[in-house]
Amino acid sequence: IKRVTTNTLKELKKKNEKIACLTAYDFSMATLVDAAGIELILVGDSASNVMAGHETTLPITLDQMIYHAQGVVRGVKRALVVVDLPFGSYQGNSEEALRSAIKIMKESGAHAVKMEGGKEIEESIIRVLSAGIPVMGHLGLTPQSIYKFGTYTVRAKEDEEAELLIENAKLLQELGCFALVLEKIPAKLATLVSQQIEIPTVGIGAGNGCDGQILVVHDMLGINKDFSPRFLRRYADLAGIMHGAFTSYIEDVKSGDFPNQKESY
Ligand code: KIV
Ligand code: NA
Repeated sequence: IKRVTTNTLKELKKKNEKIACLTAYDFSMATLVDAAGIELILVGDSASNVMAGHETTLPITLDQMIYHAQGVVRGVKRALVVVDLPFGSYQGNSEEALRSAIKIMKESGAHAVKMEGGKEIEESIIRVLSAGIPVMGHLGLTPQSIYKFGTYTVRAKEDEEAELLIENAKLLQELGCFALVLEKIPAKLATLVSQQIEIPTVGIGAGNGCDGQILVVHDMLGINKDFSPRFLRRYADLAGIMHGAFTSYIEDVKSGDFPNQKESY
């Protein structure tokens, strides 16, 4: 199998072929996602929410991200594996950013890192890139700054914030980021950004004009039932299927039906 690289993604954009991305946080899920033909797997700090049960992405640590990334990398044969630098591991100190990114690359075997923000983390991005580590940008709704914004509503609806986002997208491209996540911004703005830069944009809640799409795998599988934003399309009802499996198992254990003779030694 030919591995997906950062260049593959740029080629896909040139060919006008959309890029399909999902998150994964462990070996088993990553194996399934990769085998389906996904181009990019993000070990997102959304693991803080969906794996650890935290309310925000802020608590997850660098070592916890590395633990998730290690499992994912072991399951992946083809996809590009990108790992989120967690909150506090890169902002405002480019030396720490570089140290964090190197630790992720060395200890997990992942292929790239992602950081939230534009101009304000410019030095960190430059420093990580200078070590030969590919960087994915992330603009729009940036969950690590949730306490600055106070809500998870759509970003950059006003002209001023939209212009700043376009500027930051161009800056990230200039610095050398290989791609850019656009989270929860108006479709029109995301389309404009995608047209104005050459590196691929990967949208989540950012409409159809992006060069690729990403969803949190637990959300699209319907494992997470209490998270229902408008942008989410559910491709399965795994919560229902799993509930059915668990209750059937309980019934079979209680009734003495499981294990039967064939299932015994
Ligand atoms: O952590 C995450 O899952 C993400 C994606 C939603 C882009 O950053
Ligand atoms: Na993230």
